[in-house]
Amino acid sequence: MKRFENKLAVVTGGNSGIGYATAKELIREGATVLITGRRKDAIEAAATELGAIAFVADQSILEDIENLAEYVRNQYGTVDILFINAGIVGDMGPIEFTKVENFDNVMNINFRGAYFTLQKFIPVLNDGASVVMLSSIVASMHNSNSSVYQASKAALNSISKTAANELAARKIRVNMVSPGPTETEVMNKMGLNKETLTQIRADLTNKIPLKKMGSAENVAKMVVYLSSEAASFITGSEFVLDGGLTL
Ligand SMILES: NC(=O)c1ccc[n+]([C@@H]2O[C@H](COP(=O)([O-])OP(=O)(O)OC[C@H]3O[C@@H](n4cnc5c(N)ncnc54)[C@H](OP(=O)(O)O)[C@@H]3O)[C@@H](O)[C@H]2O)c1
Repeated sequence: MKRFENKLAVVTGGNSGIGYATAKELIREGATVLITGRRKDAIEAAATELGAIAFVADQSILEDIENLAEYVRNQYGTVDILFINAGIVGDMGPIEFTKVENFDNVMNINFRGAYFTLQKFIPVLNDGASVVMLSSIVASMHNSNSSVYQASKAALNSISKTAANELAARKIRVNMVSPGPTETEVMNKMGLNKETLTQIRADLTNKIPLKKMGSAENVAKMVVYLSSEAASFITGSEFVLDGGLTL
């Protein structure tokens, strides 16, 4: 018997990167998985490749979150694993020049969207369910030029710990996974040219004690572990996967 047979998992932002790799791993272990994304074509293509259920939803839009929770409740009843993963980095730059549009976009997806996804799913979660929030090592870093992204993940960690406390009575566990630099599409979406991206990747790799970037599969395996029976005594904890970068 596979570990997640007869379990339903919902993965936000499942058409690429860490969300896609986690959906793949959960399906391999027997789960039924629903993935969300904003782009209909991308989410449907990913769902077909994975053998997942596609649902088009922008996690920053409250109505989309409500429709998603309602759909899951009507079709499947309850959820065993909720992986709140959808996120963006947004524009880089000093606080002095941060545009309101960028502030709102990053906070609306990474924090407000995650908060209300959690809220709307609380009544749909099974007692004993697992919630995993995809945070980042930057949640506890204060690098220049990344104030909004860093703050969005710090806020995410704060509510995750509060949620772990509030939901413990129902044996629902809430944990955070914080990757360091991980090979996914996220950096390609920052609007930087190819040379700059290559330089950033080389600089990061050089700074990481293990001298490599992480993979989406590394993160997926941690999410799957936290969602499993083996992690039944773990809640409100943050797991860092960064090759030693923050040592
Ligand atoms: N890669 C890293 O180095 C790294 C490190 C630390 C933390 N993280 C975090 O890991 C998470 C996943 O990122 P990734 O690296 O796997 O990047 P990715 O490949 O760009 O995947 C992000 C996923 O989120 C989706 N998404 C973004 N905004 C959304 C929205 N408003 N509603 C629904 N879906 C949305 C994307 O879909 P679309 O393509 O349609 O937008 C995509 O499926 C993010 O929260 C990110 O902050 C990444």
